[in-house]
Amino acid sequence: PTGRMKIILRGLIALLLIVLEWTCPGLPSPPRPICDLRVLNHFIQEARDAEVAMKSCRDGCGLTELVSVPQTTVNFDDWERKNATEQAQEVQTGLWLLHQALGLLQASMTDVDLNNHIDNSIRNLLSINAVLRSLNIQEYTPPTSAVGLEGTWKVSSVAEVLQVHVNFLRGKVRLLLVGAEACQQDVS
Ligand SMILES: *[C@@H]1O[C@H](CO)[C@@H](O)[C@H](O)[C@H]1NC(C)=O
Repeated sequence: PTGRMKIILRGLIALLLIVLEWTCPGLPSPPRPICDLRVLNHFIQEARDAEVAMKSCRDGCGLTELVSVPQTTVNFDDWERKNATEQAQEVQTGLWLLHQALGLLQASMTDVDLNNHIDNSIRNLLSINAVLRSLNIQEYTPPTSAVGLEGTWKVSSVAEVLQVHVNFLRGKVRLLLVGAEACQQDVS
């Protein structure tokens, strides 16, 4: 049953991205908000799969430099105190950092299986950005220098990058989607 669910979700996500492409720039009607959390859950599952693949990687899966990644711990009081713009920017900054980090892994890994997982994770990050656009969350690109970017830290192994990836999606990304205004209206 979980295998079938995975195939159904893949179809759903592919379809959804086609719809997003169509409705993207120039057309008057905004894309339908994507509020179904199963979409994010699917990306989280695939991020976990990458973490698992890392565990069986023996060769060509080391890092030679430190990589900047976002903080994943969530302090609910701090989060609640932030306005929607700040929350969105924090998540987008984290997604951007993860995109950079995974790009770096992609360039340095020689393990084919792990590389496929990483390619997939990078595609999923782009899909998450499309989901955010569908929720009318304004696109935000942080300043190009990650140096001194608030809420970042450095890790030294591929396993840590992949763990941060999972935790960031499960934490702040999920909170942003759950609280998105576009989805509150949808529920009522
Ligand atoms: C959100 O908070 C930031 C920083 O405190 C402030 O500059 C901005 O105007 C606020 N935005 C809204 C929509 O309230």
